[in-house]
Amino acid sequence: MERLILAIETSCDETAAAVTLGRTVLGSAVYTQREHELYGGVVPEIASRNHVMKIPYIVDEALKKAEKSYRDIDAIAVTNGPGLIGALLVGVSFAKALAYYYKLPLIPVHHIEGHICSLFISHETLEPPFLCLVVSGGHSHILVVEDYGVYRLIGKTRDDAVGEAFDKTARALGLGYPGGPKLEALAREGEPVYAYPRGFKGETHLDFTFSGLKTAVINHIHNMEQKGETYKKADIAASFQNEAVSFLADNTFEAAARTGINKIGIAGGVSANGALREAFRRRAEKENISLYLPELKYCTDNAAMIGCAAAFSKETDQPLRLNADASRMLFE
Ligand SMILES: Nc1ncnc2c1ncn2[C@@H]1O[C@H](COP(=O)(O)OP(=O)(O)OP(=O)(O)O)[C@@H](O)[C@H]1O
Ligand SMILES: [Mg+2]
Repeated sequence: MERLILAIETSCDETAAAVTLGRTVLGSAVYTQREHELYGGVVPEIASRNHVMKIPYIVDEALKKAEKSYRDIDAIAVTNGPGLIGALLVGVSFAKALAYYYKLPLIPVHHIEGHICSLFISHETLEPPFLCLVVSGGHSHILVVEDYGVYRLIGKTRDDAVGEAFDKTARALGLGYPGGPKLEALAREGEPVYAYPRGFKGETHLDFTFSGLKTAVINHIHNMEQKGETYKKADIAASFQNEAVSFLADNTFEAAARTGINKIGIAGGVSANGALREAFRRRAEKENISLYLPELKYCTDNAAMIGCAAAFSKETDQPLRLNADASRMLFE
């Protein structure tokens, strides 16, 4: 029988809690810390302090939305890595205290496994095996989800994650933080008139590189400014986005062709990007692939995806010894 899970996620700048039953989300609460906007990026110490202040209220809110109390809960789940160590420790400590007090099992969840499981929430019938493109602030992976909890990495970024490239390019365009959604909004007003170079051209692996793309955009802006040329920022945003999305799509659909797997899921913050969703939709239709996208509210960090991952994850047999692991691995 499915267990009622209270899940907690504090790996970066979202304080999140959710009550889940299998793939069903009964209540989910997310607080996105706005304090970092002032600094143009996440300040780890500020993130940790905010989590400490917010977490009891966010957990209460999730329980309230689910119309449940602590006494109804069967297990506690928590993201214990990867992420910012101080931020992770807040969630892990809170979860340990709850598990101890209410004598409940404690399930540690890998943050990226959580993102992958956002697909199970939005697609009731989705079953492994399928290909998953994980595109977030810290990761750009193509992996085969062979079974629940069994992953095989077949492509990854060798430098910046695509979300990081969106954020850095947005900063170069003077858009502020968080840059991804702002860059997407600006790109809607422009055209992809500039062709930025693709890394790894002619190579046979499925890895990505986004650092060169970001640098090409920054150099392009500097060049035009030095020459006193006028340009539309929106065209630059659209050209950057077009190249980033095409690179992701080319390698992911190539992975589908090579593995013969005709189901593709996309997860992580960048999967909220409208141009990416549209490009993958068009291509999936043409290539006869089933495409699975998370609902927008489950693209960026949330605890519902952590609860969903916990439904098939193992509890720890030493709950009081559970620690946060900032660089926890999902693959060997
Ligand atoms: N609409 C969008 N278009 C492009 N990028 C977006 C969009 N929405 C969010 N992002 C990007 O997604 C990232 C945040 O996603 P997420 O919360 O999954 O990352 P993270 O948790 O910081 O990193 P990770 O999951 O790798 O640990 C940011 O880089 C943000 O700019
Ligand atoms: Mg994330």
